[in-house]
Amino acid sequence: MQNLIVPAASQLQLSPTLEINEAVEAVRAQGRKFVHLGFGEATFPIQEKVLAVHAQYSRSTSYMPVAGLRALRQSIAQFNSTRLGLDISADQVVVAPGSKVLLFALFDVLQGDVLLPRPSWVSYEPQVKHANKRLFWVETDEEDRHTITKQALEDSYEAAIVAGGNPRIMLINSPSNPTGQTFSAENMKVVVDFCNVKQVLLISDEIYSDINFDGESSSASPLQQADSGVPSALIVMTGGLSKTYSAGGWRVGYAICPKSEAGDQLLRVLLAYASECWSAASSPSQHAAVEAFSTSEHMNQYRKSVSKLHALCTTRLYEGLLALGLRVAKPSGAFYVYPSFQPYAAQLARIGIRTSSELSKWLVNTCGIAALPGSAFGEEDEGRIGGRFRLRMATSYLYFANQEERYEKGYDLLEAAAQGREIHLPMLDEALSALAAAVDRLKAV
Ligand SMILES: Cc1ncc(COP(=O)(O)O)c(C=O)c1O
Repeated sequence: MQNLIVPAASQLQLSPTLEINEAVEAVRAQGRKFVHLGFGEATFPIQEKVLAVHAQYSRSTSYMPVAGLRALRQSIAQFNSTRLGLDISADQVVVAPGSKVLLFALFDVLQGDVLLPRPSWVSYEPQVKHANKRLFWVETDEEDRHTITKQALEDSYEAAIVAGGNPRIMLINSPSNPTGQTFSAENMKVVVDFCNVKQVLLISDEIYSDINFDGESSSASPLQQADSGVPSALIVMTGGLSKTYSAGGWRVGYAICPKSEAGDQLLRVLLAYASECWSAASSPSQHAAVEAFSTSEHMNQYRKSVSKLHALCTTRLYEGLLALGLRVAKPSGAFYVYPSFQPYAAQLARIGIRTSSELSKWLVNTCGIAALPGSAFGEEDEGRIGGRFRLRMATSYLYFANQEERYEKGYDLLEAAAQGREIHLPMLDEALSALAAAVDRLKAV
């Protein structure tokens, strides 16, 4: 049978995350040890009260309202109002089974082409292309692969116009997957001002917003850069339960639409889209999420402990990589480190490695280390030096060997972080030794 699939969908491929997972399984099948830095899945135990509410509602099997449970929309609005010092109302919030589907829906329903910082999370590019939109990269600073200048924004916009594009959407993600960087307040302002001048709608993916350890919490959201505390007419924020609360599988995400006529229109369209596509997020998960997003003392403490542990683990990995001679920026949020093996380019060339994808495969097969190649995030192997031989290393699998350990040891670990006790992370030490062995191997070629 020919032409079964529409052209936009036939471009879709299995995510690179799955590809690396298959390589990991092959190493595992040989009974060899490996270090898993390939997956960005948060693995702390779910906060006890949140877990209890989920269990309490397991018999709640009815469909939820399309926009989400009223109490949850209120909880999300209040949480973000407190976090950002703004007045966000429950009516601006749409809840869905994960923020990924909301991002998909946004790209599908909004007009125009998309400006996206390079590097960016793996799913944006396929989502944009699937929506029949064109994507124009915004180049970022070579060192941290994150900071964006006004010039870079204007260059990207110009390139889009020259290519016959119609750039009307931009997306930013701070703290960022893959770089582990957060925008400074100044940088956030540069982006917001640019979007306002060009009338570009800004999507702010803030799924990692609570895992932010650069001490500049004021820079958390572009919404704070909008005039006089009133959210800009053209900023949509997304977030969810997956990262801070280690509950990716519960599938709860949200979007906050602007408080404006355009925002109301967008919200109406998103709800219609949701009603024809996913109907609503899971009922027990939504009830549990009301508790998770609460600003109660225990949830504030949980968020703080989680952030502290991610700060500790990513910073130790960063220090280790720096000591091994790699180019790497100090992480300031999320749970990623984004080193470049460029300093070992000559050695890599000698063993026939020319791309980040080849490097990632070599690390899995030869050294038992899984990390995602920069090319999965839009980096060009033949492009600027800054993007070459980058790997995204996720630290979220370095706490517990399996599910049982997660619940046996996890609460103590969170408690130790809360009390400022010394923290040992044996799996991180193993990761550092494996990386040191890999670099030794390179030095010897
Ligand atoms: C940057 C970023 N945005 C969005 C998501 C989607 O999360 P979810 O659909 O679980 O809310 C992820 C998950 O990996 C992510 O890393």
